[in-house]
Amino acid sequence: MAKRTLVTSALPYANGPIHLGHLAGAYLPADLYVRYKRLLNEDIVFICGSDEHGVPITIAAEQQGVKPQDIVDKFHTMNKDVFEKFGISFDYYGRTSSAVHHQVSSDIFAELNQKGVFRKKTESQLFDPEAGKFLADRYVKGVCPKCGYEDAYGDQCEKCGTSLSPAELIEPRSMLTGAKPILKETEHWYLPLGDLQPEIEAWLDTREGWKSNVMGQCKSWLKSGLTDRAVTRDLSWGVPVPVDGAEGKVLYVWFDAPIGYISATKEWGIQKGDHELWKRYWMDEQTDLIHFIGKDNIVFHCIMFPATLMKHGGFVLPRNVPANEFLNLEGQKLSTSRGWAVWLHEYLEDFDADTLRYALGTTLPETKDSDFSWKDFQTRNNSELADILGNFIFRTLSFTERFFDGVVPELTGPSETDLHMLRQIEQQRDKIGQCYEEFQLREAISQTMTLARAGNKYLTETEPWKTRKTDMAACSNTMHVCIQVCAALSVLFSPVLPSKMQVLRSYLDFRSVSWNEVKQHMLPAGHRVKAGDILFHKIEDDAIDTQITKLRKNTEPPAATSFEPVEDEIEFEDFLKVDLRAARIIAAEPMPKSKKLLKLQLDLGFEKRQVLSGIAGYFSASDVVGKTVTIVANLKPRKMMGELSQGMILMASNADGSLKFIETDGEPGSKIS
Ligand code: 2FM
Ligand code: ZN
Repeated sequence: MAKRTLVTSALPYANGPIHLGHLAGAYLPADLYVRYKRLLNEDIVFICGSDEHGVPITIAAEQQGVKPQDIVDKFHTMNKDVFEKFGISFDYYGRTSSAVHHQVSSDIFAELNQKGVFRKKTESQLFDPEAGKFLADRYVKGVCPKCGYEDAYGDQCEKCGTSLSPAELIEPRSMLTGAKPILKETEHWYLPLGDLQPEIEAWLDTREGWKSNVMGQCKSWLKSGLTDRAVTRDLSWGVPVPVDGAEGKVLYVWFDAPIGYISATKEWGIQKGDHELWKRYWMDEQTDLIHFIGKDNIVFHCIMFPATLMKHGGFVLPRNVPANEFLNLEGQKLSTSRGWAVWLHEYLEDFDADTLRYALGTTLPETKDSDFSWKDFQTRNNSELADILGNFIFRTLSFTERFFDGVVPELTGPSETDLHMLRQIEQQRDKIGQCYEEFQLREAISQTMTLARAGNKYLTETEPWKTRKTDMAACSNTMHVCIQVCAALSVLFSPVLPSKMQVLRSYLDFRSVSWNEVKQHMLPAGHRVKAGDILFHKIEDDAIDTQITKLRKNTEPPAATSFEPVEDEIEFEDFLKVDLRAARIIAAEPMPKSKKLLKLQLDLGFEKRQVLSGIAGYFSASDVVGKTVTIVANLKPRKMMGELSQGMILMASNADGSLKFIETDGEPGSKIS
């Protein structure tokens, strides 16, 4: 067994709030595992933090007219807070814009550079001649060479999932100005993954107990042959490349982000007053390093980051990367741009954290994509937490208070049924522990509920409300046993339901919180307990319907089942009064306090204009920048929500309710007739 464990959860980008999909992928599973390990009194440290670099952050900042630091400050604070409220018990939540992180990642890069690990290459890359900038990653959109999707990003096509490089896009367009990029030479540092493939392959072969979905993806990358990966970019936001003559270049976000695990551990140690503490977790073979991530991060954590650490030397490599698949929502893919998501901060306005920890925990996408539905959430709460666990606890404690003055009764001459129930405590403890050790967290939760179910059944079948009148010894035995099961559950369920189980332990006046102390007899006869309040309340249909309506209202286009009828005839002269022009969308941002409007800046060739368009329910701001569309240019300007709108963008309304732009090849300002 390892002397110590270091657990990391993927650093979330600090450019948006946390939703259910994030939680199910990398945070809840890690927290369940860590809380279990802490109950074993093992030396375990749980590290996470904000990933504050990368192009999506600078694009968001540009669209909102603020600095990248403003964006990351806002979401770092918000996400840290929501994780805390949700009981995700990080030992340290760092951020990659910190000075320590800049230093640690610069040092690692410099060391690799000095060792001659990188290959420097001069290549032609897309450059926006209007903005005078190279277009890294998501600064460029175009047609996917694989599937023909028109809005593929420079680093990935979101439609078919293919990883791309900007130069592969067909008909690329700049996200900065909409201009057609040109090719320009630039120099970058590459991690020579191609050369390193045999080393990586040999190391992966030594990994045991990895999930088949994770190892399968690694094998498939290896089979296609690894290629060199650039670890620098021509950008201004990020960790500057620590080499003379590399001005205007920063480390690639996927080079510096995983190093964030190291720098956050370093900051954690410093906070504890020990500057060297981090080395015990990163530079000692006795550490088990476990990365919890979503499946889209597998290549970075199983190939690129280990390769970086291997070539640097001195660092431990991951023992396991129990990556999860994706969580769908109500049968559909989660989509933040379409608003098809449940945001944690909004969830917490209506329900408590433990209920979701349980419901989501039972449907984690461990081996394949899984689905979260509000109805299932309700059933998990009502039929399991309330009807089984809560009911068992409340019946046990209220009966003890009422008929035994809250004192744990003696166990005398127990029946085989009583002994069988007591034996199940340790059997289940071991079974659940085994599941946690093997990262089978869904099964761990299900086996914990199995113990509660067994307790509930035992209580019902031994009928203490009858034996109280006929066989007081049997009644006492039942309540003694049930109280032991409650005590066991208060520990075994605490990784999943930390707040509720803490309350339960206060009712039981049970101080010990240690996995191995879960035994047949924990609370001796004579110990006092109290009934307390009901721990889990039923969730009514109305509350669930409200959530479903909210989700659909935020996202669904209005239901349209047919084409609109054609309007009355008009004279040709009437038509000529409408001045239609081509206009390029050069910037877009959501309109504050409006779910419908996007605020667009248009280039009409001869002038720039602002137009407010009611398309926010269909497109996100980043979807529309760069498109050349048709507008009514002579519509009388009008004010909406205090902002001027100078024209109207024409849209085609499809019979299925979706909207499409009337895109044109005409140059901005050209008249359409
Ligand atoms: O996919 C993401 O959200 C990334 N920000 C994860 C980074 S994990 C690690 F490398 F920091
Ligand atoms: Zn594609």
